Amino acid sequence: RSFAIAASIAVLALGLTGPALAQSPIIIKFSHVVATDTPKGKGAEKFKELAEKYTGGKVKVEVYPNSTLYKDKEELEALQLGSVQMLAPSNSKFGPLGIREFEVFDLPYILPDLKTLRKVTEGPLGARLLKLLDAKGITGLAYWDNGFRQMSANKKLVTPADYQGLKFRIQSSRVLQAQFKALSALPQVMAFSEVYQALQTGVVDGQENTWSNIYTQKMHEVQKYITETNHGYIGYVVIVNKKFWDELPADIRDQLSKAMKEATAFSNAQSQKENDDALAEIKKSGKSEIIKLTPEQDEALRKAMEPAYKDAAGRVGQQLIDEFLKEAK
Ligand code: LMR
Repeated sequence: RSFAIAASIAVLALGLTGPALAQSPIIIKFSHVVATDTPKGKGAEKFKELAEKYTGGKVKVEVYPNSTLYKDKEELEALQLGSVQMLAPSNSKFGPLGIREFEVFDLPYILPDLKTLRKVTEGPLGARLLKLLDAKGITGLAYWDNGFRQMSANKKLVTPADYQGLKFRIQSSRVLQAQFKALSALPQVMAFSEVYQALQTGVVDGQENTWSNIYTQKMHEVQKYITETNHGYIGYVVIVNKKFWDELPADIRDQLSKAMKEATAFSNAQSQKENDDALAEIKKSGKSEIIKLTPEQDEALRKAMEPAYKDAAGRVGQQLIDEFLKEAK
């Protein structure tokens, strides 16, 4: 105790007031819910490598993958409290913070490909969405890709009627809720870390995710069928505790921004391959049958999910949806 008092007097005497400066090196805890061997996991590792290099070791980044520190909802609370400094939640997870706008990315078939996505995230709308986080004590730094969602279940999902009455795990997004309701299915919000077990024990019948997430969580081992729908997009917003970020010495913040910019380019360049490789591994495992839809079946699913747009208009706003569609053209 006397040591602690002496130490804090020394800190005061040196005029080091900011919490970031009182600590040497500065620690950034980066918590996330997926495996290391995924687009986000690799992006986080790249950021760690570059951040530590550019700051000459003044910053140490501790990456905690696989929900080892916090689950979906808890990690956002922890960020606001300052228990962790950095996260990269998916666009579908900002609702509990009272921000529904990122859910526009969840709208079924709103993005034909990643090139189109880039137009939105790198355009004025992307920047404006990040600004919404300020009021929550959060600074948005970047958008990272994962990829497109596929549907899995123990039943063949071919026509819209096949979804009827099945329980699907969803992320905490009202748009995703509306999407499954449009299919007469029963959506259930659940943390990512609980999905494998919920599928295994039959708490839910199915789920939607990217090939990379399905493979690294071994979901294909407990789902007989995966339908290649590419119906939705999963991507991330890399966020940092605003107070922590603002109080960093300017030179360190610049070095970290540079590291983030490069880690973003790196992560986004390999996301497609991560998902392609995961699909190949799932096929090789023979554990899950991959179903491809005919153009007619694809069209029927698109049509069946369309009511999600009307529902979302009341939540994220028609104006925002229109703006998104315009920028995505
Ligand atoms: C999910 O919860 O399904 C995903 O958002 C997990 C992730 O971070 O990719």
